[in-house]
Amino acid sequence: MCGIVAAVGSDDVLPILLDGLKRLEYRGYDSAGVALVEAPGRLRRAREVGKVAALERRLSTAPLKGLTGVAHTRWATHGQPSQDNAHPHVSGRIAVVHNGIIENHHALKRELIAEGYTFTSDTDTEVVAHLIERELHRHGDLLGAVDAAVARLEGAYALGVIDADRPGRVIGARHGSPLVVGIGEEGYYLGSDPLALLSVTDRFLYLEDGDLVEATRTGCVVHEWDERGGKRSPAVREPMRYEHDDPSVGKDEFAHYMLKEIYEQPVAVANALEGRLGSDQVLIEAFGPRAGQLLGDTRQIHLVACGTSYHAGLVARYWIEELAGIPCQVEVASEYRYRDVVAPPGTLLLTLSQSGETADTLAALRHARARQGQTYVGALSICNVPGSSLVRESDLSLMTHAGPEIGVASTKAFTTQLTALMLLALALRQLHGGDGELTARLVHRLRYLPTLLGDALKLDADIARLAQRFSGYRHTLFLGRGAQMPIAQEGALKLKEISYIHAEAYAAGELKHGPLALIDASMPVVALAPMDGLLDKLKSNLQEVRARGGRLLVFADPESGLEAADGMTVVNVPACCRFLAPLVYTLPLQLLAYHVAVARSTDVDQPRNLAKSVTVE
Ligand code: G6P
Repeated sequence: MCGIVAAVGSDDVLPILLDGLKRLEYRGYDSAGVALVEAPGRLRRAREVGKVAALERRLSTAPLKGLTGVAHTRWATHGQPSQDNAHPHVSGRIAVVHNGIIENHHALKRELIAEGYTFTSDTDTEVVAHLIERELHRHGDLLGAVDAAVARLEGAYALGVIDADRPGRVIGARHGSPLVVGIGEEGYYLGSDPLALLSVTDRFLYLEDGDLVEATRTGCVVHEWDERGGKRSPAVREPMRYEHDDPSVGKDEFAHYMLKEIYEQPVAVANALEGRLGSDQVLIEAFGPRAGQLLGDTRQIHLVACGTSYHAGLVARYWIEELAGIPCQVEVASEYRYRDVVAPPGTLLLTLSQSGETADTLAALRHARARQGQTYVGALSICNVPGSSLVRESDLSLMTHAGPEIGVASTKAFTTQLTALMLLALALRQLHGGDGELTARLVHRLRYLPTLLGDALKLDADIARLAQRFSGYRHTLFLGRGAQMPIAQEGALKLKEISYIHAEAYAAGELKHGPLALIDASMPVVALAPMDGLLDKLKSNLQEVRARGGRLLVFADPESGLEAADGMTVVNVPACCRFLAPLVYTLPLQLLAYHVAVARSTDVDQPRNLAKSVTVE
């Protein structure tokens, strides 16, 4: 997704802007650009299609220099990736970078064209540049001009704006797309996420929706929008320290961030458990002061998420219903937000999001909050980014402590979400009268989960070999039953995201209702076979595949009784209890997708067309 960096400093800010863009590459983008005020009245910009490296190459032959600048990585929504569509967009003396979507851009464009403005791009952003330019003539001041311009915008935006005639100042605005202010020794900065600015600061102000910020080299003032008074007033936003390590320190010995993050899972899951397990139960008070009451009042759960987080939610439904006896409905956020959802009294809205900034998930939260009190008891988020919008707008948040995830295809964020969800299921069980014996057994097993995940990683070399064979296929089917069904979905998602092989997942029991028609020797079938009450049923489903000449790759418990045979490869996964099997079986599927993608020479960390954090609808 698009990334913003802006800076106002006491020295040339181009290196800071370029470093910030490189740090934002993980979000996914297709072009990059920068604009600097080189001297009062002299605004210069450079834009390139492709990677930030292409922009850097161009700047090495035609350098820009200045104390005030904005920069951007663009993920195309309106208009194809091209130099003209890349940001910053310029109108007269101002330059603008924008994340989000301006929904009323057609109407605004007509209005601006009628007034004589000429458009040079197909983007929605260009209307923002011209609007601000127009307002600048009326107000004479950039802050007032941005304020008047954003009042006309519908949709979502984070903006960074500079004025060539008044360097030394950057204006930022936030409405529905994230924006932070970095507080540095040598200047002030804007970034669409803190990672962009870690080379210059670890202190941030998290802007809220409706905020405008005016940053200079020595300070910044935030102006919030007072709905009731219908005017702006200065606001206090407390600086927060960024607590994670700087992920840009590199991939260490790993070829890709994704592989590094796959290998980080034992430690990440240990961090997610840290301080939350007592001797034989989950420490609910570690979830936060209101957790006991909120979870105790919960009668049913609406769990809402997107992408990989949605798959974590689907697994959690099995756990929450079986362990706590609480009905749990799981839905993708883009559907939930537009549906006339029936939420009976006592509904807990549970949102899951790695980034905490996914537009659809946030909208679902806001949709539910608008009706809080009547039906919803409250909103709980499970999230990896402290200070994110989702965390700030929820009653309670359970952080996953995965650390920054750079690979677009989510790995450790997923397994730490599952860990947090298992803790939540057990907490609900404790509060809703489930017997303590099973709780204690699972708490004990959770302590060994990081070791178990470490054992699963030892399959890496075997899976890398299998992946060579796999990489020649064009389609794949993934099968699972029970809580392994969503893991099959996640395995299929990983494979298609990074290797571009078409992959579908089915509940194994559904095979005979359609997908069986696809089975032949060119359609490999990946199946998950842990020790659970459905193993025998699954074995029958696998026979259905074999009888049609299908090629099976089965990840199985060593005691499953499944053995390699003609057309069937069996990989033994470390033995584990059925409740934790979804976590353990995830790792071989991640490794499979990874090695297949490497064999096909795709861009593993930044797959085509995808974005890490989807902050638009
Ligand atoms: C994007 C990412 C996925 C992620 C999804 C939801 O599509 O590429 O990896 O699962 O967004 O993101 P969230 O931050 O809400 O978990």
